[in-house]
Amino acid sequence: MSDITENKTGKILLVGFGPGGQDQMTYRARAAIAEADVVIGYTTYIRLVEDLLDGKTVIKKGMTEEIDRCVEAYEMAKQGYIVALISSGDVGVYGMAGPTYEVLFQHGWTPDSDIAVEVVTGATALNACASLVGAPLTHDFCSISLSDLLTPWPTIRKRIDAAGAADFVIALYNPKSGRRTQQIVEAQRILLRHRAADTPVAIVKSAYRRRQNIQMTTLDQMADCDIGMLTTVIIGNSASYLREGLLITPRGYANKYDALSGDAKAGEKAGRSLSMGLEGWHGCVRRWLEAGNHKPWEQIAAHFDAPLGEILAAVAAASDEEPAGGYAACAIDPAAALDALPDWGRLRAVLRSPAGGVSECLLQGDQLTMKGAWLNCVTDHFHLHIHWAKVDQAWLARRGEQSMGVHFLDTAGDLLFRLLLVRDGEQFDPTALAAFEGCWS
Ligand SMILES: C[S@@+](CC[C@H](N)C(=O)[O-])C[C@H]1O[C@@H](n2cnc3c(N)ncnc32)[C@H](O)[C@@H]1O
Repeated sequence: MSDITENKTGKILLVGFGPGGQDQMTYRARAAIAEADVVIGYTTYIRLVEDLLDGKTVIKKGMTEEIDRCVEAYEMAKQGYIVALISSGDVGVYGMAGPTYEVLFQHGWTPDSDIAVEVVTGATALNACASLVGAPLTHDFCSISLSDLLTPWPTIRKRIDAAGAADFVIALYNPKSGRRTQQIVEAQRILLRHRAADTPVAIVKSAYRRRQNIQMTTLDQMADCDIGMLTTVIIGNSASYLREGLLITPRGYANKYDALSGDAKAGEKAGRSLSMGLEGWHGCVRRWLEAGNHKPWEQIAAHFDAPLGEILAAVAAASDEEPAGGYAACAIDPAAALDALPDWGRLRAVLRSPAGGVSECLLQGDQLTMKGAWLNCVTDHFHLHIHWAKVDQAWLARRGEQSMGVHFLDTAGDLLFRLLLVRDGEQFDPTALAAFEGCWS
């Protein structure tokens, strides 16, 4: 090992050297390894950068000795050495940067202390693998590790499910090993609930290494492919497609521009958010209702894949110039809504279970009483208990002459319960209707 000159302060360089090939390594990663007195890494990683290690002290560790690698780096840096702790891909992506900082903090290290720390970024596996199969990451994507060695499966399952539902392109790291063979099968099963069976999938093994191997397949076939420890699986979103053997995820321009002329499509403006952008999409809801899509509230929310609160807000902004097909809504204070109920006579309380069950109870508005945190109605036929603390919004709403009432929603804009006027034959009771109409601001 090289001698340490007096007063030399130690340094830890956390170096991501990219997927494996030296061409994919950054200049800074190469310079950082050149600068180091000591290089510490997993045996395979050391082999991948072997020709950069002449004259250096090299410490090889096994795969499971991650914390040992961090402690060793700290001990060496304390003695004044410049230590490169190397990791494949990006050192901060499922890499050594996190455990090293944790070890340093446990030893009382702070950024002002004598030991300097630098994180040297590298191309992570998902970038490297994507570059070999086309352009799969051109829209929103996420990475999920299927390794349940340190992460509980319910957490992993929830993430796969959420990413699937949100239509992210998904890169699966650590998809399979000799012992962990069923995780990829489970991931496939969960994702097939959200995506078509023929969703394109790229399976890249040992990107930019000697045994590089690429398989293009589909979601329903992916678990049957050759997948190992050094594989990254890239699953397209609902717009991704396979063409000429390449996996492409459109950037989204097709929503806005004519592919041939490059001109903005009708209703869209260059340089402005889409008509279905944050500010525009409420207008789309109103136009859709005005076009005759007269559906129950839940079906409208499902059509736009949005919480009911968003649909009610869109309807509330209807005007004579931009009507909403006879739908109307108005936000009111939840307590004021409760005060108004006794004047609406008999009511239908509607509750929906997340799995789709619906229960309806007939009651009088003044039968609802508050007890502690609960709004209750107790009769011989049913007990109704609503956790009032969860009520965040109340909306008066009418769906033409079909239904009128008040919707109580939680902070996410999802329905807790609704109270609807009851029809008297074909008509709403005129007194109840007048009282209901009187609540609109
Ligand atoms: C512990 S993670 C390390 C990730 C690394 N720090 C990175 O940023 O790429 C190991 C996983 O990365 C992926 N991986 C790493 N190098 C790869 C390569 N050359 N080709 C394909 N996948 C790779 C595989 O999914 C593997 O199971």
